[in-house]
Amino acid sequence: MMNNTKAFYLIVILFLMTDLQAQENQMVQLPEPQRTGGMPLFEALDSRQSIRSYSNRELSRQDLSNLLWAAFGINREDGRRTAPSARNWQQFDIYVIMAEGWYLYDPQDHSLVRKGDDDLREYAGTQDFTATAPVNLIFVSDHSRITGNVSREKKEFNSATDVGFISQNVYLFCASEGLATVVRGLVDREKLHQVLKLSPDQHVILGQSVGYPAD
Ligand SMILES: Cc1cc2nc3c(=O)[nH]c(=O)nc-3n(C[C@H](O)[C@H](O)[C@H](O)COP(=O)(O)O)c2cc1C
Repeated sequence: MMNNTKAFYLIVILFLMTDLQAQENQMVQLPEPQRTGGMPLFEALDSRQSIRSYSNRELSRQDLSNLLWAAFGINREDGRRTAPSARNWQQFDIYVIMAEGWYLYDPQDHSLVRKGDDDLREYAGTQDFTATAPVNLIFVSDHSRITGNVSREKKEFNSATDVGFISQNVYLFCASEGLATVVRGLVDREKLHQVLKLSPDQHVILGQSVGYPAD
């Protein structure tokens, strides 16, 4: 039989573990995205470009909200999104890596789910600037959402095509808002898979850095 002291410590440990897990999955509500305004489309197309040096200035919560909604938010009542996806599989998740922690974007609640406190920016890409860019988005394709009799080759093809639309949404949003961005294939996918604690069905496809341009 367990004595009272042992039972007490066991309860305390269980309580602390549950509390830690709760903090890990804490929901951070984003402000409503501003779904109107911005630069006229042709001006945004005219300004779209890759920029690789960033100021230290953080994005505001509103910037982050607008950025994620533009990237792959829900824009219709039936749950469809700002970017198309083959057969509407919506297989992409966006992980958000910042100095103060890393998050998973939840488009349903338009919130961020806090996944950890560590600054993972050094793992967000193999180029130096990722370690200092205020925001690094990581586009992760979840093959378990690609349902039906679909070959691995087809799943990979659809992931490679669908990510382009999300990335271009980010490019156009950044052009419109005067933000700097670059999409990146230069990522250590294995390392990111490990530090983001992804499942075997989840595949890191591309990263994209976002911030204000360096002064
Ligand atoms: C699939 C893809 C992967 C890319 N990977 C990187 C990368 O790892 N690092 C980088 O600095 N730029 C990367 N780029 C950005 C390109 O270098 C850039 O788009 C190109 O030089 C043209 O410049 P622009 O975007 O300003 O028109 C990538 C672009 C695409 C479409």
